[in-house]
Amino acid sequence: MASTVIKGGTVVTADLSYAADVRVEGGVITEIGQGLKGDKVLDATGCYVMPGGIDPHTHLEMPFMGTYSSDDFESGTRAALAGGTTMVVDFVLPGQGQGLMDAAQMWHNKSGRANCDYSYHMAVTWWGEKVFDGIADAMKAGMTSFKHFMAYKGALMVNDDELFASFRRIGELGGLAMVHAENGDVVAELTAKLLAEGNTGPEAHAYSRPPQVEGEATNRAIMIADMAGVPLYVVHVSCEDAHEAIRRARQQGKRVWGEPLIQHLTLDESEYFNPDWDHAARRVMSPPFRNRKHQDSLWAGLQSGSLSVVATDHCAFTTEQKRFGLGDFSKIPNGTGGLEDRMPMLWTHGVGTGRLTPNEFVAVTSTNIAKILNCYPKKGAVLVGADADLVVWDPEKEKTITAGAQQSLIDYNVFEGQKVKGLPRFTLTRGHVAIHDGEVRTQEGHGQFVAREPRPAVNRALSQWKDLTAPRPVVRSGVPATGV
Ligand code: URP
Ligand code: ZN
Ligand code: ZN
Ligand code: ZN
Repeated sequence: MASTVIKGGTVVTADLSYAADVRVEGGVITEIGQGLKGDKVLDATGCYVMPGGIDPHTHLEMPFMGTYSSDDFESGTRAALAGGTTMVVDFVLPGQGQGLMDAAQMWHNKSGRANCDYSYHMAVTWWGEKVFDGIADAMKAGMTSFKHFMAYKGALMVNDDELFASFRRIGELGGLAMVHAENGDVVAELTAKLLAEGNTGPEAHAYSRPPQVEGEATNRAIMIADMAGVPLYVVHVSCEDAHEAIRRARQQGKRVWGEPLIQHLTLDESEYFNPDWDHAARRVMSPPFRNRKHQDSLWAGLQSGSLSVVATDHCAFTTEQKRFGLGDFSKIPNGTGGLEDRMPMLWTHGVGTGRLTPNEFVAVTSTNIAKILNCYPKKGAVLVGADADLVVWDPEKEKTITAGAQQSLIDYNVFEGQKVKGLPRFTLTRGHVAIHDGEVRTQEGHGQFVAREPRPAVNRALSQWKDLTAPRPVVRSGVPATGV
């Protein structure tokens, strides 16, 4: 078997930095040490050898708001690799009445073209016996995390009774509950009011989803998860109101994790006031971009550990698709891209500013989520036996982000014109060098599905506590046990 040695770099993991060569054989890391030899050598002089990024929040070729997101598993994973990300986790979205495993099959039919490894979260978009049973089937098939939409009323949204039932079921089976936390009832009311008042432009999208709708829903989801005894992961945390709820819950010992997006960390609400309708509409996503105060809160959360993971929610629509919402902001397909840019943007604005150390960068782009989703150390690690999903990161390499040079299939980039410093020299997906010094050498279909086991220890700890604190009847002497 041919071997590749990554030579002369500094290995950077979530907890250590040290000079070493890394040998890769058969798609896995076989040796880490000094003076290693191999059939092929990749020069890592001046570079950091890090676990490839894991983006736990993508929507590739997703049916949504009357259309499909434009990046599919081929272009999406190509963009990922170009930016140093070697695994994506996409959301399976069952239709109303559809069984979870039927929907998973539809996703498997699409993902065969992936250039890097991928896994799935399952979404719970309606509730009934079929879903109750489907949760167990999904877990057996390697999908152990379940997203619930508290927004998108009349489409994907589930109500509190459904949320509670689903959370209990997932908790019992050792799974992870996830939420898109926005109060969908309030968003629907505000949307109708804004439209009636003639606020039809993309800026009204932001007005329809103020931080309070996110803070309220995040807090509600945390409390419902606590009552149900299930660990909770809050996706796309965009504001202090939601972060505050997560921070408080974690301080109280609740098993809750928060995921900000690179977009919310680096872009703000002024984008929606751009006089160019297309510019503003291209940035419409839920939750919307916020102001500086909220951005500072998210950065502080990453620094202090109250927020755990940086994702993209990559859900790319072309300008033509965005124009479905001309004259009515509520019809603009929600979503932005970012797969290729997450790692360079976070490095530039995080490590490059001193807000994050390189080790913290690895933690929030890869290792933390690998642990939360229980695919560590197969993923998210530089260890002998781990998959050779690696990025050789050149901290001196620079570029200006522009749509003309991107892998994504859409016709713009929300980070257009941003200068980044810190880019991949090589990206390896299970040993295959997919990005070679700026050259794209991806292999369509190389990606494999990563089945994940439940993480029962966390749920068991929660159940133990629930049992200890469960309601119990008081046994009283001299009073009949039942009746009058
Ligand atoms: O606007 C967004 N976030 N679109 C993708 C779907 C979702 O809510 O995650
Ligand atoms: Zn969402
Ligand atoms: Zn999403
Ligand atoms: Zn290969």
